[in-house]
Amino acid sequence: MNKTLLITGGAGFIGSNFVYHMLREHPDYKIVCVDCLTYAGNMSTLAGAMQNDHFVFYKTNICDRAGIYRIFETEKPDTVVNFAAESHVDRSIESPEIFLQTNILGTQVMMDACRKYGIGRYHQVSTDEVYGDLPLDRPDLFFTEETPIHTSSPYSASKASADLLVQAYHRTFGLPATISRCSNNYGPYHFPEKLIPLMIANCLQDKPLPVYGEGLNVRDWLYVEDHCRAIDLIIHRGRVGEVYNVGGHNEMKNIDIVKLICDYLGKPYSLITHVADRKGHDMRYAIDPTKIHRELGWLPETKFADGIKKTIDWYLENRDWWQTILSGEYRNYYERMYGNR
Ligand code: NAD
Ligand code: DAU
Repeated sequence: MNKTLLITGGAGFIGSNFVYHMLREHPDYKIVCVDCLTYAGNMSTLAGAMQNDHFVFYKTNICDRAGIYRIFETEKPDTVVNFAAESHVDRSIESPEIFLQTNILGTQVMMDACRKYGIGRYHQVSTDEVYGDLPLDRPDLFFTEETPIHTSSPYSASKASADLLVQAYHRTFGLPATISRCSNNYGPYHFPEKLIPLMIANCLQDKPLPVYGEGLNVRDWLYVEDHCRAIDLIIHRGRVGEVYNVGGHNEMKNIDIVKLICDYLGKPYSLITHVADRKGHDMRYAIDPTKIHRELGWLPETKFADGIKKTIDWYLENRDWWQTILSGEYRNYYERMYGNR
């Protein structure tokens, strides 16, 4: 079957991993990538895809209605996967507005295009952050698809708003939509403002490792390829109108992750610096992935012990990729975020 799949945000972390996953797993599909290349999008990330005849790239903002409609007219996609988003919680605390524009209004534009031109499936890549957080002293509690939405940051509020809009478009207009809510991803091409790549990059430069508060917050880490496999399954076999949680039962405290990275790279714990906590900092995320396992047979394949080594090795082998980022505009952000913290 020849399909045309439109992927937004494909120059970012998970989107690019998904582009490579789909080119590998579905070599007969045409992959149309739409990304406006914010600070988080990087064409060098897509260098391997640009050589593929089945891949085409458009530098377009998902809020640009006319531009998006033109792409639909030209490419006639039958499936859309919307990754494009402002994705960093700390930035959403600093400047919320762009999060509302891209994450909410951009989602609306994508769905309007799907309605106007017709589509087989619209998939919204959401996040477990829409459920808020869980207490540390209740390890028996997990987020299920029925957990009420209860957001903490402008980022999570914008993602939750988008989810509600997707559900409204499904119910009101019959848009054939699905939503996935995944836990924290890690792996290649992860922008070095996020915990794991930031700690790897700082370790490799013998710079302080800024842990927010005591570092006791818990995240449920999933190797990015496992997330890509989950979305691949959902767009092909997931039930329209459904939400699927994605997570690997791999809860870790931030401080333990930072120490593990130090150990692997042979760096001293004295680099660890406890800095002011994130405002509204969520304590614990933990996904119950029973539904996607039961309905679609999905299970994570990469154990954290293996995935984190693969990830650190990737950063060792691809210094040019992250060093170019660190030498550019990102330096100003780092100074603003950590300078006086
Ligand atoms: P990222 O910040 O690495 O990449 C986002 C990409 O979207 C970038 O390439 C950027 O240029 C592009 N983009 C941003 N605004 C755009 C716009 N207006 N128009 C077109 N392109 C735009 O993000 P990520 O970590 O890869 O996350 C991708 C998606 O997955 C997001 O929707 C995020 O909410 C969700 N998610 C992320 C995680 C995680 O752990 N990183 C977990 C669950 C869900
Ligand atoms: O759960 C899914 C979400 O995971 C996604 O929706 C988001 O897009 C993604 O950014 C991620 O959000 P987090 O806020 O959990 O990820 P981040 O890497 O920013 O932080 C992970 C934890 O590490 C969090 O408890 C804050 C802490 N932290 C982070 C940074 C950047 C630090 O202690 N120091 C740091 O310098």
